[in-house]
Amino acid sequence: MKIVLNHKCNYTKEEFLNYQQEFSKIKTSHDIVMCPSYPYLALFNSNASLGAQDVSIYDCGAHTGEISASQLKGMGVSYAIVGHSERRRDYKEKDSEIKEKMEKLLQQNITPILCVGETKEERESGGRLEIIKRQLSIISSLEAEDIIIAYEPVWAIGTGLVPTIEELDEVLALIHSAYPNSLLLYGGSASDENIEYLKKSQYIEGYLLGGLSLKLERLQVFLEVC
Ligand code: PGA
Repeated sequence: MKIVLNHKCNYTKEEFLNYQQEFSKIKTSHDIVMCPSYPYLALFNSNASLGAQDVSIYDCGAHTGEISASQLKGMGVSYAIVGHSERRRDYKEKDSEIKEKMEKLLQQNITPILCVGETKEERESGGRLEIIKRQLSIISSLEAEDIIIAYEPVWAIGTGLVPTIEELDEVLALIHSAYPNSLLLYGGSASDENIEYLKKSQYIEGYLLGGLSLKLERLQVFLEVC
């Protein structure tokens, strides 16, 4: 399984170094991608693969605070999360911008991990599949096989809630039939407490972990079970 650890905006430098040391003691056959905060890309020293949490739409130049795909490549990054719901919500990221980011990543041979998922309101209004189809539509013009898709219901992220297997597999079946070559991840409160349940899905090929990625003892249990 592909397991992506999304640290979000967590850890001081010392905490990250300590985390990395403890992480190195975990033995697993799963394929792990660690996505630390940007400054710690330079401190990465692990058997895992290195991922970024975002990327700029710009190649270089006068764009204060931005980090380009080629800069990520130079730091050894091989995966990058794009379209995370926190960025769609907090920075008003649009599908068109997310598509541009994916193009920049693919030009650098960095595998994009595209996050899609409906909000609570969208779920309740019954428009879930339409929203996800719209978010996915940016892939069709990219002519790339090497894209990972993470289904992350927004209402499940950080809440302890997860969809039913029926809900989950309805969405994952849709994604799988449209993009059969993309690896499918689930993200949203996945943990050692619900992994036995999530394993009942016939489509999940890996997980995008937020909160659990910061709790190494519980992460280890998760990795043993998943
Ligand atoms: P969570 O976050 O596992 O804490 O719900 C997942 C994510 O935001 O990618």
